[in-house]
Amino acid sequence: MLMRGKSVRRWCCLAVLPLAGLVDAGQGSELAARQGIPYPAVIAHRGASFDAPESTAPAYVLARELGADYLELDLQRTRDGVLVAVHDDDLQRTSDVAQRFPERRNSPVSAFTLAELKSLDAGSWFNQAYPERARERFNGQQILTLDEVMDIAQGNSQRRPGLYIETKVPSLFPGIEADLKATLQARGWLDKPGRVVLQSFDRNSLALLHQHMPQVPKVLLLWVGKGGMASASGQTFVESGETDKAAFYARQQPSSKAEFERWLDYAKAAGAIGTGPSAARTAGGAQSYADLVQPWMNRMTHDKGLLVHVYTVDETVDFDKVLAAGVDGIFTNRSGQLLRYFSRSLPLGEAQILDANGY
Ligand code: G3P
Ligand code: CA
Repeated sequence: MLMRGKSVRRWCCLAVLPLAGLVDAGQGSELAARQGIPYPAVIAHRGASFDAPESTAPAYVLARELGADYLELDLQRTRDGVLVAVHDDDLQRTSDVAQRFPERRNSPVSAFTLAELKSLDAGSWFNQAYPERARERFNGQQILTLDEVMDIAQGNSQRRPGLYIETKVPSLFPGIEADLKATLQARGWLDKPGRVVLQSFDRNSLALLHQHMPQVPKVLLLWVGKGGMASASGQTFVESGETDKAAFYARQQPSSKAEFERWLDYAKAAGAIGTGPSAARTAGGAQSYADLVQPWMNRMTHDKGLLVHVYTVDETVDFDKVLAAGVDGIFTNRSGQLLRYFSRSLPLGEAQILDANGY
């Protein structure tokens, strides 16, 4: 399923790319084919999170129904040991934790039991933040367990996306890599090549994932700054005195080509088959970071036998830019936009799909 239409997709996309982007296309598609990974891959970042509250059922159902190749999720663990999909270290931005548990509003996800997390409203914040995309049925959406995300991924026999799972702040969750393996294995998710891709910013966690699941493709997420590559500026955002984070990050570069290459070598040493570099968005905003998908970077990555899946872009101007630079897949909050860009057929529009699924 994950390889369907591979060659068609490849050529439909090359047709819209400037010549500069063609240099790596063959390398990338061959690397992807070897791993059973669609090319170019459409990765639904926290689900279809532009149109529905991130990491909730409507976001993942919508991404599945649109035809995304993968549902992306950030994995954390509850106090009572259940794997859940939550991005932030705490729950304030995406839930009503401040009302439900005011004394623990700043506490990490690991401070809550599953029952406590399930009592939170993980949807209303979206309606308040994005009134133009608000829906009554988003109110009261729950945080999902990994099992529930799997249920959604398997919920339509005609459309079966894979899972692209990030171990988030794994140092807070010792043993989470083994827990993840147990869950994936118990449900048969490790049987098909490329059905699951594992990702982390943390090299140690990636190496542990490789130890537990050597056959599963892994991606090292790349970042300039604390915990990632050394930057040319040597400054943090706070030290810079700037007020616009995206503008600050857009100016950040690895300290040298050798530093960039060092991180590719870290990826290989940890067992990765690819990297997940950040992108600078044309319009800036909260998910705009350093441009780590410049053509020379992607060439160097391909030359080392690694794929490039860039995070996180949503607009045509940025799809053009990163694909021309040679990436092999895109994390996007707008799976529908990217699938249309690739001329992949969509059954219905986003609003119609949400309506049809009771949202
Ligand atoms: O996992 C790829 C991308 O999601 C990394 O950034 O912060 O959105 O998890 P983040
Ligand atoms: Ca992520």
